[in-house]
Amino acid sequence: MSSSPGPIPSSWVSTGHLPTPEVVQSLVREAHAQFGSVDQGRVAHGIPALATASPQSFGISVAATNGATFNAGDWAVPFSIQSLSKPFLFALVCEAIGEQLARDTLGVNSTGLPFNSVLAVERTEEGLSNPMVNAGAIAATSLVPGEDAEAKWRFILDGLSRFAGRRLEVDAAVYQSEQATNAGNENIASLLSAHQQLWCEPRTAIDLYTRQCALLVTAQDLALMACTLANGGRQPLSGETVIAPLICRRVLAVMVTAGLYETSGDWLYQIGLPGKSGVSGGMITVAPGKGALATWSPPLDEAGNSVRGQLTAHFLSERLGLNLFDSRPSGEAIGQAP
Ligand code: DON
Repeated sequence: MSSSPGPIPSSWVSTGHLPTPEVVQSLVREAHAQFGSVDQGRVAHGIPALATASPQSFGISVAATNGATFNAGDWAVPFSIQSLSKPFLFALVCEAIGEQLARDTLGVNSTGLPFNSVLAVERTEEGLSNPMVNAGAIAATSLVPGEDAEAKWRFILDGLSRFAGRRLEVDAAVYQSEQATNAGNENIASLLSAHQQLWCEPRTAIDLYTRQCALLVTAQDLALMACTLANGGRQPLSGETVIAPLICRRVLAVMVTAGLYETSGDWLYQIGLPGKSGVSGGMITVAPGKGALATWSPPLDEAGNSVRGQLTAHFLSERLGLNLFDSRPSGEAIGQAP
């Protein structure tokens, strides 16, 4: 299915809600206590400035669509957003050029390959991947509107800040560190360019992509950003409409397909929600209509996904009743979460 007749207006959307605030806060604390002692995984070493992160750092934040937040541990400590910028950047590009054109131009299918794979570009004749992996995200960045690099950067910074509900800032040390060790992404940009899949200078695309990855966020910022995707595009605290409801749908679909790269199937099988991970140890999970979860814990598994983040998402998806595929036979009482 390469094109669609466009959306059919929906008159009714049913999503449910989170359990009571007391239940959510107590489960967030329980998850933090339970998984804080897990010592599997390895802190990312590809970007030198990230290699010094403490493996002990662990923060959890849940944001509800009414703006309430529930936190534990290092939820207020800033870290670089890395790949977690990808769904929000894609949302902004969809908003700017239209979701149908964004899909046709970037692709939305899983590559089944690691996030930084150069093969992602060579996989199809047109060089399409999806905006959750580096290749598709660099291509998406090159589509950002603006007459020069500075205008394009303002668009990205303003847009991501609107998702967060506060002005975000770049971590200069992380930005410089990644700039100095960026050969992989530079290769991807050259290949994209060779496939006519880059819409600005490769150097500009890489610089804008690298700068956006170095934006500092906390777990609570990420929970609110992700909650905007759970809330029809309206930031739950500022009340600002950042993107249209249809774009939320599109972004969440691509997160389901490729948010955890080659382990996206395992993630969906177990957690049943759109998710996205980042190399600095952040993770987001979105429960449409209800809210979102963000975690920060630097040790990663082989695919680059936070180990404690995945455990927390699994625990909270189950205990908060968030799995999108869950149902009970009709007529059977559905209990409240404990
Ligand atoms: O471009 C990179 O490789 C990093 N700035 C971001 C990668 C990332 O976060 C993937 N995460 N699991």
